[in-house]
Amino acid sequence: MEMLKRPRRLRYKEGLRKMVRETRMDKSSLIYPLFVKDGTQIQEEIPSMVGQYRFSVDCLPFELERLSKAGISSVMLFGIPEEKDEAGSQAYQENGIIQRALNEAKKQFPNLYYITDVCLCEYTSNGHCGLLKGEEVDNDSTLSLLSKIALSHVEAGADMVAPSDMMDGRVLAIRRTLDKYHYTRVPILSYAVKYASAFYGPFREAAGSAPSFGDRKSYQMDYHNRREGIKEALLDVEEGADIIMVKPALSYLDIISEVSKVTTIPIAAYSVSGEYAMVKAASQMGWMEEDKMICEMAVSTFRAGASVYLTYFAKELAQFMDEGR
Ligand code: PBG
Ligand code: ZN
Repeated sequence: MEMLKRPRRLRYKEGLRKMVRETRMDKSSLIYPLFVKDGTQIQEEIPSMVGQYRFSVDCLPFELERLSKAGISSVMLFGIPEEKDEAGSQAYQENGIIQRALNEAKKQFPNLYYITDVCLCEYTSNGHCGLLKGEEVDNDSTLSLLSKIALSHVEAGADMVAPSDMMDGRVLAIRRTLDKYHYTRVPILSYAVKYASAFYGPFREAAGSAPSFGDRKSYQMDYHNRREGIKEALLDVEEGADIIMVKPALSYLDIISEVSKVTTIPIAAYSVSGEYAMVKAASQMGWMEEDKMICEMAVSTFRAGASVYLTYFAKELAQFMDEGR
């Protein structure tokens, strides 16, 4: 049969398939999220995130060692404080959980790159990401607090800060504060396009950060919206964000793609706790193959336009990359 174009010609041999791949992965684009908890001698597994742990500061270096060995060079730190209050005041203490974790980690592993999540929900007694005025999360009074938290992280050694609260204007507020204290070289990774998502469930158990009443829909985005994602992305670029994130990843590949077309700064995508839990659950049931799911989810995220990938599977992915998969 005459047929000039046969797409299958490029698919018969593995070497050729790999030669013509359009998307390639690299370990240096991976960021591993880590939970650090007040206390000592703690390495406790998170029930809904099998294989993920909360570490006390003294145990953190063991995990950093494993990450370094796997070839992971960047981490995103989340703090779980012993005490919470209305104003989340533990978030910016010099001896707070993140601040102490940074001190210790940087002493032992100075070559890792440390990014910190800047938010209030792990530190407020009500579990919301901003200060309350009545039952409402108040935007403008939260900004100075976020700036204070970001500054305290940078003073403790954070290489980059990542605000995840979704208040309007926080990137500009944080940029101004950092610049005022001469931290002009510290980048901001903004959780710019963050949807109110059921996929954060396991994280909230891990961090003890579920809101005690209501939900996050007055600040995180409505997942019915695509153009609003572009609006949020462009605003944060204007406010001085250096990298913008789309979150979650798997259900939002269209958004990653759109945002990567309308901006020129790097796009990060966060494969969140619920994505991790789904993969783990299905593979534990023997229903799907974990390693293949991990690779497929990662590649599709890069293919959509992300150049930075936050994933709880970073170590596994690094290993698969080493194996040349
Ligand atoms: C805190 C924060 C959340 C996540 C990252 N930073 C939870 C939330 O917004 O409720 C989710 C990460 C994940 O699910 O893995 N604002
Ligand atoms: Zn939050």
